[in-house]
Amino acid sequence: MCGIVGYIGKRRAMDPLIEGLRRLEYRGYDSAGLALLQDGSIEVVKAVGKVSSLQEAVAAHWPDEATSKVGIAHTRWATHGPPTVANAHPHVDGDRRFALVHNGIIENYLALKTQLQRRGRTFYSDTDTEVLVQLIASCYEGDLVQATAAALKQVEGTFGIAVLCRDEPDHLVVARRGSPIVLGLGRDETIVASDVSALVAYTNQVIYLDDDDIAVITANNVELRTIDNVPVSREVAHIDWDTTAAEKSGYEHFMLKEICEQPTAIANSIRGRLDDTLGTAILSGLDLSQHDLALINRVVIAACGTSLHAGMMGEYFLEDLADIPTEVEQAAEFRYRNPIIGPNNLILAVSQSGETADTLAAVREAKYKGGLVASICNVVGSTIARETGRGVYLHAGPEIGVASTKAFTCQVTVLLMLALRLGRTRRLSREMGLELIEELRRLPDMVRTVTERAPAIEQAAKRFHDAQGMFFIGRGYLYPVALEGALKLKEISYIHAEGYHAAELKHGPIALLDEHVPVVALANDVPGRSKVIGNMQECRARHAPVIATATDGDPDVAQHADEVIWIPRASRFVAPVLTVVALQLFAYYFARERGCAIDQPRNLAKSVTVE
Ligand code: G6P
Repeated sequence: MCGIVGYIGKRRAMDPLIEGLRRLEYRGYDSAGLALLQDGSIEVVKAVGKVSSLQEAVAAHWPDEATSKVGIAHTRWATHGPPTVANAHPHVDGDRRFALVHNGIIENYLALKTQLQRRGRTFYSDTDTEVLVQLIASCYEGDLVQATAAALKQVEGTFGIAVLCRDEPDHLVVARRGSPIVLGLGRDETIVASDVSALVAYTNQVIYLDDDDIAVITANNVELRTIDNVPVSREVAHIDWDTTAAEKSGYEHFMLKEICEQPTAIANSIRGRLDDTLGTAILSGLDLSQHDLALINRVVIAACGTSLHAGMMGEYFLEDLADIPTEVEQAAEFRYRNPIIGPNNLILAVSQSGETADTLAAVREAKYKGGLVASICNVVGSTIARETGRGVYLHAGPEIGVASTKAFTCQVTVLLMLALRLGRTRRLSREMGLELIEELRRLPDMVRTVTERAPAIEQAAKRFHDAQGMFFIGRGYLYPVALEGALKLKEISYIHAEGYHAAELKHGPIALLDEHVPVVALANDVPGRSKVIGNMQECRARHAPVIATATDGDPDVAQHADEVIWIPRASRFVAPVLTVVALQLFAYYFARERGCAIDQPRNLAKSVTVE
C-alpha cells in the first residue's frame, strides 16, 4: 500500500527518490518523506499530503539542493496513527544514526515498544514502523546487516524495508517478508522500490527479493542472504514496460487512459493464445498437460475487489463452457474458513498486482493443502505469480489508476480463454471453440466501439450526477458486471452505489428507491433480459429513474428507461466485457462532474498489501 524507494549511485539521490515517489503515489498517498545521508549525518524531510507537498518541503529545507547520492523515501497509506508529519516515514532512532522506510504491519509492535521503552528508548510517533528502527538501533554493534537481521527475527508481521545508517554510508540494507521489494540494477546505480514502476525510468534489469531475504546494496553490487545469514542468489529478470506506459499521454486522468487502452490491452492478452486448428486456447504458462487439465474436477477462484468480480465471471464461463464445478471465494475468507481442497482441484488466484496480501495468503494456504495452484496476474514477477509458479499473465501494461479497468477486462478475457481451453478437453466442440475464438478476435474492436460512444455516456452521467445513491442490477453473466459497475462508481465518486442481482432487489433494497436513487439496469439482449425489463418497471413504479444498458437495435428497453446506454450486439460471453467498459466510462464522467480525485480516490490504495 505504501510506496518505498531507495537509491545509491552516481546521481543526486533526490531526483530518483522524488521521481520514484511520484510514480508510486498511486499506491498510498496521505503523507510522504525522504532521508538523505548528507555530510556524515542523516537528514529527514516529511510532509502531509501528496508528493508535491514533499517537494515544496524539500526545496525549503535544501535551498541549495542536496548533493547526497544515497537516500530512502516513502509515500504512506496510514495504518497505525493518522497522517501526520510525525507518523510519516522515514523514521529515525533517537541518535539519528538510522533511518528506515517500511511497508507492511508489525503485529507485535506494542510488546516490542514496551520492551524498548523500558530500556530507555523514547518514541516520537504512533506507528508500528518506529519500533523497527529503534530495534535495529538497539541491536547495532557496528554491522547494519547483522543488526537488521537480529531485529527482524524478533518481529511478527509483514515488512518491506530499506534502512540507512549514518556510519555505513556506502550501502543500503533492504529486506522483505510479505511486502514486495524489487532491486533495479542500473549502471553505477542501484534503485530499490516496492513496485517496478518506480524504477523503470532507470533500468529494466531487476531482482525480486523473496521472503526473509536481506540485501546489502551498493551502486555496483547487490549481496543477498537470508535472515539467517545464508548467502542466496536470485534471478535477474527483464522488465518490458517503458516509462511512457506509465504516463498519462495527454489524457486528463490515468483512469480514462486505461479505459481507452482496453482494445490494445485485450489484444495483448489474446495475442498468440488462440489456436484455429484445434479451436482452443494455448495457455502455456499454466504448464499443465492435456491429461492434467482433463483431470481437474473443481476450480476455486480466490481474489479481492475488482479481481473478485472477474473471478465471478470466470465461474460462469467455467461452468457453462467446461462443465467444471467452480466456486469463487473472497481471498480474505479463504484461509480462515478452512477450505476443502481435494485432489485435482485447481485453485486460481486472480490479482492485477500479484501482491494483494489476502490473495497471497490464500495461495499459500491452498498450496499447503496440496492444491494445484495457478494465478492470473498482470504484474510480471509479482509475488503471487512467482509463488504459484504457473499461470497466465494479462500483458495489460501498467495499471496506475486506483480504480481497476483494463486489468478487469483482461482478466475476464483470460478466464474466457481458460474456460475454452478446459472446455475443449471436455465436451466443448471444435465448432463452438472456433466461434468463441472468432468473438475473442473481434473483442478489441467491439470494445473500441464502446469507447467511441464516450460522449453519449458522458451525457448520461452528467444528467444523473447529483443522485444520492445508485443501484446496479443484472442477471446471469451481467450480475458480476452490476457489482463491478457499482464498485467503480463508489470508488471514485463517493456516492453510495450497490450492485445487486436484479431479482434480489425486491428482498430489501427496493425499500431505498425513490426519485433521488436511480437504478442502472443491465438489460442487454442476453439470457435474463425480459426479466430485467420487468425489474425496471418495478423500479420506475417506485419513482426511481432507470438508466438501462441495451443491445443496439433493441425495440423494447428504451420505453421502460429514462436513459439508455447502447452496447454493440454480442454473445453472453462477450457482452459483459462491453457493458463493463460502458459502466467504467459512466463512473468516470460521473465522478468528474462531481469534481472528485479520480486517479487517487480518498482512502483507497492500488495494492492492498496488508490484511
Ligand atoms: C485494491 C484496488 C482494487 C483491486 C483490489 C485487488 O482494492 O483498489 O482496484 O481490485 O485491490 O487487487 P489485485 O491487485 O489483487 O487485483
